[in-house]
Amino acid sequence: MARPNQAKLNLSALRHNVCLARKLAPRSKVMAVVKANAYGHGAAIIAGALQSSVDALAVASIEEAAALRDSGVTCPILLLEGLFDESELGIASQLNVWLSIHNERQLQWLEGAALSAPVTCWLKIDTGMNRLGVTPDKALHYHQRLVATPNAANGTVAYTHFASADDLQNLQTQRQIDAFDSLNFDVARSAANSAALLAWPTTHYEWVRPGYMLYGNCPMAQGHPNAQTLKPVMTLTSAVIALHDVAAGESVGYGGTWVAQRPSVIATVTIGYGDGYPREALNGTPILVNGQRATLAGRVSMDMITVDVTDVEHVQLGTEVVLWGPDLPLAEVARWTNTIGYELTTRMPQRTPRVVVNA
Ligand SMILES: Cc1ncc(COP(=O)(O)O)c(C=O)c1O
Repeated sequence: MARPNQAKLNLSALRHNVCLARKLAPRSKVMAVVKANAYGHGAAIIAGALQSSVDALAVASIEEAAALRDSGVTCPILLLEGLFDESELGIASQLNVWLSIHNERQLQWLEGAALSAPVTCWLKIDTGMNRLGVTPDKALHYHQRLVATPNAANGTVAYTHFASADDLQNLQTQRQIDAFDSLNFDVARSAANSAALLAWPTTHYEWVRPGYMLYGNCPMAQGHPNAQTLKPVMTLTSAVIALHDVAAGESVGYGGTWVAQRPSVIATVTIGYGDGYPREALNGTPILVNGQRATLAGRVSMDMITVDVTDVEHVQLGTEVVLWGPDLPLAEVARWTNTIGYELTTRMPQRTPRVVVNA
């Protein structure tokens, strides 16, 4: 019998979230971001389920794109960071993936190549995040060179990325929009990540690029009215494997960080940081046991956690435990862990099986 841990994937929730994205940006094409193993959900499963309902996918590297092609994905795939080495150009063209061009070196590789077919390029513009891309004043020059080289297909897209679109009060987003709108040549555009798709309608342009919201999560800490109907795709579950009565004053787990304030019942659950449950989770982090709220009691071990179930009814060996999912928001667990929901799912290791529960 296998360990009972599962990252359960609800693919109808995924499709529902894509429909919401389309409804909010009805005139834009949708590029679904599935890098980092689809934010830990399982890239082949997610991309396979998405490819008929989106216009393109985005990943971080040629290896991620090749894995998707191997799994039967045929729709366009953009490499968000472009090529890391000139030698990848031939593979990219064979795999028929789209390239980001974010610097001079990448453009020179493209211009100097002898490709059998031109590749579609997305020109990355740095409008103020200062992470990747060419500055708006150089964009026309780069665009003209892409138009001139026979190795770039017609229809280059200019795109940018927001630093703070999840913070509606942050003035940086409007400054980035203004910088992007200063491009004074005719080109298709893309800017919106999930936060901008949800909350900044002027940023939808020809393409939107949601990731996080497709997995059913809202990037805004305080939520957003447009995100209310999002449905979480992943439910992380495990089970109780031991129950202990602990006297008041006794401690639980490594370092004895949790001390019983009253006679308590502690359930040991077979999931730990080796399975994707964050070690940083604090005492008190909410956990659902038998559908009822309980709290983490003691440090997270590699393969186990301990949960205070003193007030939870009908707990026995084998009782189901939910670490996050529709009834226990990822964002809430992330707050107790001093991180963001993006990181919690993305860190999920292969050890935890991804199981499609609702195709
Ligand atoms: C360039 C780019 N576009 C779009 C996205 C999607 O962002 P989100 O998951 O917040 O929707 C990302 C994710 O980091 C990204 O790096």
